Amino acid sequence: MKCKVLVILATLLLISCSKDSADENIIHNKEIDEITVGLKTYAIEKGKFIGNLMRDGMFDNLQVNNGLTDNLLKTEYNALVLGNKMKMSNLLRTRPQDPFNIKIGDINTANIDKFIAYADKYDMRKRGHVMIWYNQIPSWLKIEAPEWSAQQIYDFSKSYILVLSSYCKGKIDEWDVINEAIVNNGFREDTWYKIVNTQANSNGEIGYHNYFAYLFKWARLGDPNVELFYNDYNIEAFGTSKNNFMRTFVKKLKSDYSAPIDGVGLQSHFKINLTTNDFISRVGKTIDDLGESNFIANITELDIRICNGDTQTLEDQKKAYKNIVSTAFSRDNCKTILIWGPSDNDSWINSHFEGCGQATPHDENFNRKPAYFGIQEALMAL
Ligand code: G3I
Repeated sequence: MKCKVLVILATLLLISCSKDSADENIIHNKEIDEITVGLKTYAIEKGKFIGNLMRDGMFDNLQVNNGLTDNLLKTEYNALVLGNKMKMSNLLRTRPQDPFNIKIGDINTANIDKFIAYADKYDMRKRGHVMIWYNQIPSWLKIEAPEWSAQQIYDFSKSYILVLSSYCKGKIDEWDVINEAIVNNGFREDTWYKIVNTQANSNGEIGYHNYFAYLFKWARLGDPNVELFYNDYNIEAFGTSKNNFMRTFVKKLKSDYSAPIDGVGLQSHFKINLTTNDFISRVGKTIDDLGESNFIANITELDIRICNGDTQTLEDQKKAYKNIVSTAFSRDNCKTILIWGPSDNDSWINSHFEGCGQATPHDENFNRKPAYFGIQEALMAL
């Protein structure tokens, strides 16, 4: 009898031990999931793209930072853009034999191929940045363009865009066709293409609107299915003079000039002390307003910097990241959010804004910051 009782007790003990270890396993697996499941897991579930950029150092050498940046990009994100390597200064570094009739052989397609291969390997959405921008142009163009006629500016831009968009046809999902063409409440005038506004081309056409509309038309000719964007900064919050100008501009391009423009890229380089609830709800209002005119509005270069003298903490930054991600992604016409820097170690902020930094969701040692969990919480709650 005694023996029987002992056997039963031993069996119960065994069952309870194995149940405890099963529970522990579940908890342990959940912890592993939280460590290994990237942001993209949640984004994919909700039909969204969360992305980041690949900086030059990593583009040249995937093992940079002991491979930690590479690991962040491929585990966390399902969208990718290059920080610099697809800008004109890199794609058209050498002067083409005939700059008014650019051929594919004039373009440094190796950069494009490398970008596409990496992104495809990890099933990432591919953002082309950028076709026409006043900045980061080749030094030969900087010297020559001021002497060009309006028609020569048209010929150069047309052949460059046509070659580029046809080469990338079906391989790039969205392109920034024109970047940062607005300053406050007017067009930027200190550009290599400014002559199009004061001199007519050989068809008698003159003005920025005309030129910008053609840029979109040429990009569409090269690839009928790619999404085409106007991209800029300080245009995010509804009702500022730059925001008003941008909204009027893109609507006019589409309605009066039949430009095939699909969307606006809201760069979103924010300073922490400006990211109040009111500010972020005005970003939502911009997305809604653009949506009413059938524009996509993506967040294309998000970072939130903290500068010397700011009283805000990393917890405030978490709230700001959470707020912008849930505000933007709760709108159907915002499908993609790209962050501008995988970690605080890979961010442009430190070298461009004195006394500022900590702008990304991973710290300088590639560890997740509160901001990371803000994004994660926003994605999970969608
Ligand atoms: O390539 C030269 C190198 O030869 C030289 O030794 C080195 C010395 O400073 O500079 C290198 O050029 C740097 C370039 O990035 C490539 O690394 C420039 O100094 C530096 O100013 C440049 O910064 C880029 C910036 O655009 C230029 O405006 C940033 O990396 C890039 O993240 C940033 O990206 C822009 C977007 O394209 C458009 N929206 C704003 C965003 C932030 O400015």
